[in-house]
Formats: sequence, C-alpha cells, structure tokens
Amino acid sequence: MKFIPRQNTFHFRGEFKLILQTILSGDWKYGKALSELEKKFAEYIGCKYAILVPSLTFGMEQILKLLLDKGDEVICPAFNYYSIPLAILSAKAKPVFADVNYKTFNINAEEIENKLTDKTKAIIVLHFGGQVADLNSILKIAKRHNLFVISDCAHACGAEYNEKKLGAIEEAACFSFGTGKNLDGFGGGIVTTNNDFLAGNIREAVNSLCCWPSLKELIIKIGRAYIQWLLMKPIFFHLLTLPLIWISSAIHRETDILYEIANLGSKKIPSNLSAKERIRFSNLQAKVVLEHLKSLDIRNEKVINNAHFLSKQLSSLDNVGLPVELPETKSVFLLYPIKVKDKWNLSFKLLKQGIDTRRKYFDVPADTCCPIAEKLAQETLYLPVYAELEKDDIIRIAETIRRILSE
Ligand SMILES: Cc1ncc(COP(=O)(O)O)c(C=O)c1O
Repeated sequence: MKFIPRQNTFHFRGEFKLILQTILSGDWKYGKALSELEKKFAEYIGCKYAILVPSLTFGMEQILKLLLDKGDEVICPAFNYYSIPLAILSAKAKPVFADVNYKTFNINAEEIENKLTDKTKAIIVLHFGGQVADLNSILKIAKRHNLFVISDCAHACGAEYNEKKLGAIEEAACFSFGTGKNLDGFGGGIVTTNNDFLAGNIREAVNSLCCWPSLKELIIKIGRAYIQWLLMKPIFFHLLTLPLIWISSAIHRETDILYEIANLGSKKIPSNLSAKERIRFSNLQAKVVLEHLKSLDIRNEKVINNAHFLSKQLSSLDNVGLPVELPETKSVFLLYPIKVKDKWNLSFKLLKQGIDTRRKYFDVPADTCCPIAEKLAQETLYLPVYAELEKDDIIRIAETIRRILSE
C-alpha cells in the first residue's frame, strides 16, 4: 500500500550543493543575497519595502513597538500561534483575543467590534492555513476607528485579496521562512510595508542586532529541516514515523505525537522574545529563499488545484466542513483544514488505510473565552494537499473519507 504522509517540505534540486558551496566560500554570514532577496520579495509582493528579520515574531514585535505606546491594546484572533501574543506582550502592549469565524477560521469582524475600547490601537489578522481573512470588513473597521492592520502571513505567502498580494495592502505584514512554510529558509522572516517610518526604523533595529548565527547554529537548523523532510520520505516514514504515530495513537487516541514533539502552539506564552529569536538572518538562508521564490507561484498553483479538487470530491458529504474562500480572495492552502465530529476516529482509520493527517495545529491560549476557537481546535483535521500529490492521491483521500464516514 502506498502511504501518503501528512506533509512534504520542499527542497529544490541542488539545494544541498548550494549550501555546501556557500559554506566553503565563506560568505554564509553576510553577502549580496540579503539585499537581493529584499528587493525581489518587495517586487513579488508589490510593496515599497521588504526587510529581512530574524523571525516573523521579531518583525511583529518591532512593528508594534514602533506603532504603539505601553498599555495599548491589540486585537488578535483566539485561534492563533503563540508568537502573536508573545510579540504583543514583548512590545509592552496587551493582547485582546477575538473569536474567529467558524467557516473561515479567521478573526471575526463582528467580534473585533465587540472588543474595541479607547485603548485599542491595532488589529493583527492571521490568514489561517493560507485562507485569506475578511480584509474587506476589517479594513473598514480599522478606518472608522483609526487602527493599524497588521497581517501575520506565516501561512499566506502568495495569497491575494482583490488581486493584490497580502503584504501590500495592510500597514505592514510579517512572513516566516520557518521549516514547512511556503518559503523555507530554515527559519527567519521578512516584514513588508509601504510606510517609510516603519521601514527605516525596522532596518535600524535589525542593523543594531549584534548576533549573527554561528556556523554550528546554522548547520543545526539545516540539519533539523532535512530530518523533518527525511521523516516523510517512504523508507523513513515506514521505519520510523509511521510506527511512532501508530503506537502513540494506539496508546492514546486523542494525540498527535509529531505535534507534541514540535511543541507547536504552546499554551504558556512568555512575555519576551529570547536571545535566540534575535539572531540575524544569514546570507546562506537568503540564497536558499531566493531559489524557493523562483518556483513559489508554480508550487502554490499545484497546491491550490489539489485543494480545489479535494473540495469538489468532498462536497457531497454533509458531515464534513470544508475550507471556505471568501469572494475576491486567492487562498494558498498551506493547510487544508476540514471539520468533522470525531476527528480522532477518522484520522486513526485514515492512517490504517495509509493516509496520514495532521490532527492538531494550534492550541487556543488559556482563558480566552472564545468558544468557536475552542470548537475548531477540537474538530479540525488537516488533510494533505501538497504540490507533489497527484490527482489519484486526492481521489483516494476523498474516497477513503467517504467510505469511513458512511460505515
Ligand atoms: C501562524 C504563525 N504565525 C507565526 C509563526 C512564527 O513564525 P516565526 O517562527 O518565523 O517567528 C508561525 C510559525 O509556525 C505560525 O504558524
């Protein structure tokens, strides 16, 4: 039986050679690729400035520090990655969680209105899984109340609203080059903006960082990414990953061991970025991201086609909630989330049929009192739609789900 792993991180042909050559030539720390990537990325997004930063979280923290005063409130979605509240707290502001829309997973415009106070200064919008949020309503609210809108585009590189790329429309946006993102640079991130003040000051903040990664640190980051990649390749998947998922699910059905190992979405939110999160983005990483950028649109299109095809195949199932794309938006489906009543049962049975799914992505931060976000965390299962999957694989995923749900 052919197994379908949950993800396939992309590495281009010749990537390893490029990494080795860069290390041997000695320009792995600082070099021309850094400014070239900033230029190419700004062109790609269609914005005035793109500034490389140590991580998305660092970029978000800097934007908030520059735009807000101590104690200002920032409205953000309750269904989110812990780095959003971390960046807000680190900028000495207060995160205010708004519940999300059940259909889109994204921050609900009405909920934003309910959370507004005199201290509200900004709204952070996360485009979950690459599905574009209701920017139309959010930008209108922001205009009415004089608020900044900042996008977390960790999942949404290449996504569009009104035929413009996300990152070109908002006050600022942050992208991540972490492992598994649409642009994988073994970590790091980039801020996009049209605002001269923000761009100048973020660049100054980055330039004042004294820490570059050591070669050992870089090699560890690269090694980790390649191990993640290898764990999804047939031989390692069969020998290591599958038994691990299998045994852990057999012991405790409601668990996702790979999620627990990666410790994504930790419920404990620190109040400051660590020193590790302030290490500069290197020339070697920029070289790799530049290459990934060349094929980004082609890979995004393949994923979008797979996602649309899967939606079509599953559309007749009443008991499955499918991803929703709002009008005037182009989503990129870094994740393909479905909602089902007993996702643990479905995922276990899918695994028996050779289809691995991601069962968890975010935990909702404690005490947010946002029932929709809690419900989504319970019900959401993430199906594979990555670019390397063929039509037959998608048909097999859909048919297997149909069969299991009709048992
Ligand atoms: C939605 C979201 N926001 C932010 C981040 C953090 O990105 P970084 O590690 O570049 O700070 C992630 C990382 O996975 C994420 O998934």
